[in-house]
Amino acid sequence: MNLNTSYLGLNLKNPIVVGSSTFTGTVDGIVKCAKAGAGAVVLKSLFEEQILSDIKKEEGYTDIYTSNVDADLYMKTFLRGNEIAIYTNLIREAKKNVDIPIIASINCADKGEWMSFAKELQEAGADALELNIAVSPFDKDVASKDIEDEVVNIFKEVKKTVSIPVSVKLGDHFTNIGNLAFRLSMAGAAGLVLFNRFYNPTIDIEHMKVVPGSALSVEEENGSTLRWISLLAAQGIPCCLSASTGVHSAEDVVRQILAGASSVQVCSVLYKKGIDFITEMVKGMEKWMQMHNFNSINEFKGKCSASADVKVFERLQYLRRNNDLN
Ligand SMILES: Cc1cc2nc3c(=O)[nH]c(=O)nc-3n(C[C@H](O)[C@H](O)[C@H](O)COP(=O)(O)O)c2cc1C
Repeated sequence: MNLNTSYLGLNLKNPIVVGSSTFTGTVDGIVKCAKAGAGAVVLKSLFEEQILSDIKKEEGYTDIYTSNVDADLYMKTFLRGNEIAIYTNLIREAKKNVDIPIIASINCADKGEWMSFAKELQEAGADALELNIAVSPFDKDVASKDIEDEVVNIFKEVKKTVSIPVSVKLGDHFTNIGNLAFRLSMAGAAGLVLFNRFYNPTIDIEHMKVVPGSALSVEEENGSTLRWISLLAAQGIPCCLSASTGVHSAEDVVRQILAGASSVQVCSVLYKKGIDFITEMVKGMEKWMQMHNFNSINEFKGKCSASADVKVFERLQYLRRNNDLN
């Protein structure tokens, strides 16, 4: 049985990618993912703010001990270089220790200094780069189009600096995801990861305080991902799609591929069931393919997006509430 799939122009032995998470932040974790059978890993992100906050801390230090501009510059350059060195070292070590593709990840919200180090991730051996672009959607004075323009501009600027494939991981806080997805694809995105799951706080009603919500998804959250993978595949988007959020079982992987995904990204399910659950997911896919007489992923990829049935995903409201619930 052939589970090979092409994602971002890379050849994956199966479509199960371990999403950016603490599992993929150490060489040990990456080796465990590869041993469990992952098709690829997306490294824990390097956050734009991490570097900026470290630089700020050290600005305080240099202000106290020296007013020398050269020393200040040195500290900033050293720290910046150090952050990058840790990350590029992770890429190099991962490449030495596993034979699956290594996708580096940058989490960003703005154009800026961080863009200059994307090239260093490529030079360290990253096979591709995933940009988790999370421009804040909470300012009432910023129009939706301005946010979308910023996302596309950040992508274009980074793309200029590297030759490896670049994908964009989006949240689902957009008015017209289809339009943004096509804009990114036309601008050269090799893939889109749908969706990033935002941190959701909740309210503790006993103490009447805002507290952290669950960091982990549940399977029922995969509806939005399935909808957009289906719709974009049906509209013939010319880039790869990777399903992220709520992929918790082999059945979910099959569902997303039937919708048109080239790969899926798993994260929460591994925190709940352990990294070795990847092996179960691969076996479950093989079993399903056997039962349905498919020998390769391409034989069923997008099968449910090619039909008129995909129109169901464009429906927003329940028509007859009682019937829908029965
Ligand atoms: C503990 C934890 C750490 C994460 N770190 C990152 C990160 O550094 N960069 C990123 O793009 N996504 C990160 N994510 C998001 C996941 O990659 C994934 O998109 C999200 O959890 C939805 O997938 P899931 O339903 O399989 O968990 C993290 C998620 C968790 C739970």
